[in-house]
Amino acid sequence: MDAIITEGLSKHFKENRAVNELSFTVQEGEVFGFLGHNGAGKTTTTRLLNGVLEPTNGGCTVLGFNPTTQGELLRQKTGILTETPALDERLNAVDNLTMFADLYGVPRADVKKRVLDMLGSFDLADRATEKVGGYSKGMKQRLAIARAFLHRPRLIFLDEPTSSLDPISSRGVHDMIRHISQDEGATVFLCTHNLTEAQRLCHRVAVLEKGRLVAIGTPSELGAQVGMALKYHLEVGESQIREAKSVLDGVAGVSELTIDGTVLRFSITKKDTIPDILAMLVNRGVRVYGIEAGESALEDIYFALHNAEVNHA
Ligand SMILES: Nc1ncnc2c1ncn2[C@@H]1O[C@H](COP(=O)(O)OP(=O)(O)O)[C@@H](O)[C@H]1O
Ligand SMILES: [Mg+2]
Repeated sequence: MDAIITEGLSKHFKENRAVNELSFTVQEGEVFGFLGHNGAGKTTTTRLLNGVLEPTNGGCTVLGFNPTTQGELLRQKTGILTETPALDERLNAVDNLTMFADLYGVPRADVKKRVLDMLGSFDLADRATEKVGGYSKGMKQRLAIARAFLHRPRLIFLDEPTSSLDPISSRGVHDMIRHISQDEGATVFLCTHNLTEAQRLCHRVAVLEKGRLVAIGTPSELGAQVGMALKYHLEVGESQIREAKSVLDGVAGVSELTIDGTVLRFSITKKDTIPDILAMLVNRGVRVYGIEAGESALEDIYFALHNAEVNHA
């Protein structure tokens, strides 16, 4: 099932088309990266998807609900970390979460266990009874995510969760996102301008540029879309590396060929070359133990798309 469907979703602030005819879907269970520079429209889209803003044109369905008319029902099944989450700094972590558990309607009898479980999962258990005012930025952010996930929503929106964190605290947040996705099975809508983060965490990404969607897909698909080299790893029998290399050397479009143990790494420009390469290898008696697509670097793709968009404008 699709967790999110948008159709021509638009939000204008006077002349400013902050969100401009977005049509995309987010599948249930995926970590979906929503990538864009400052001002691209990420936060405005998140607000539309949560029913905080009403679209100027078009619409969206989130977990089967219309956020504009069914916001209250929707928010029982979703969690959100906004750009500037406010915690009560005078209270400790347990009390901060307990207060929200009531708001979110977590059954009274479950609250205590749920709060302690969350603090454990998000590595805050040993500081749980200290005032939050004394926490580091990274700890505050982890607590804010724990709070957004307290009622075990099926879908969680994270708006730039690491933008003010140092690399080590960011890693802690990344571990939380993986936990939410892999262990809890929730769908994650992750707004970020951090490409490395998107590459590490996301199954698919959408690239937003001045309110418009300029690309969507897995990092490898986006690479193919902008004509980037596709990277592959080929594993062959130990005694057949030279033979395999001579086959690859003879194929048009193969570049960046390197050998690492029994693995040959190379790039091609068209996926269609792969079946041809495999047929040639088999013909020459090379035993293929595995072939795997490597990821394209999202960073390069993003700049290629960004430049295309700038040239287009
Ligand atoms: N409440 C608002 N009123 C007027 N303009 C807004 C409002 N919120 C956002 N904008 C404008 O919409 C555009 C997109 O902003 P935003 O969604 O915050 O981008 P991002 O989150 O990607 O940085 C920007 O040009 C911003 O100035
Ligand atoms: Mg924003």
